Amino acid sequence: VPTVAVICAAGSGSRTGSPLPKQYRELNGVPMLAHAIKALFNSACVQQVVVVLSPQDAWYDVLIAPLVGDAVQVLRVGGETRAQSVCNALDVLDEQYDEAWVMVHDAARPCITPALVEALHDAVLLHSAVGGVLAMPVVDTIKLSDDGVLAKKTLDRKKLWAAQTPQMFKLDVLYNALSDALVDEHVAEGITDEASVMEWAGVSPMLIEGHVSNLKVTFAHDFELAEFWLERASR
Ligand code: C5P
Repeated sequence: VPTVAVICAAGSGSRTGSPLPKQYRELNGVPMLAHAIKALFNSACVQQVVVVLSPQDAWYDVLIAPLVGDAVQVLRVGGETRAQSVCNALDVLDEQYDEAWVMVHDAARPCITPALVEALHDAVLLHSAVGGVLAMPVVDTIKLSDDGVLAKKTLDRKKLWAAQTPQMFKLDVLYNALSDALVDEHVAEGITDEASVMEWAGVSPMLIEGHVSNLKVTFAHDFELAEFWLERASR
């Protein structure tokens, strides 16, 4: 059964405060998206790398294609939300594959390494029929607030994990769950990763410990941190 990696790169990256979408900003001289593509490409367990772009994307052909060649399958089917982008991509891939595992990854996590990808893959194949996600035990004390001003209560930290990507599931199962969930606007709002869809569908994805270096580049200061981890991994 093949494993297909789907990299979501159809966002605008508005929180970084730059006109160039963040997936195309350079980290150590290489566009962010190219780092993620290379890591998945160099993972022995991944047979195909797919990139999801916005239909209006004007940057991929100029900045990424010359670096990665045509071995990457490009789908210009990005939607309004990340979940919609993933669903549109799975719609195409579900036609293409009878049976496959899919690993959904954010272009915004460029410091992913083949070792982490393989750890996720091996753990899921060994221990879970459902699928799993890279995640980190939470180190901060997490407060719940209704109004963003007052702390109402403190959650039990021992039970909290911060989800990363990639997230690995059976392609057809994830596609069916995601298309069902997106029908209901209220449910769709709560879907911020693939694991949350599967939980909504009533199954429990496995948590596989990731690494602090696999950070999500969100704000301006995250770029320097990502460059640090990329440089360190290349040593
Ligand atoms: O905006 P955020 O950082 O949460 O996006 C996470 C990932 O999802 C990014 O790699 C972004 O390009 C992608 N995305 C997408 N389609 C959208 C919104 C975000 O593929 N409509």
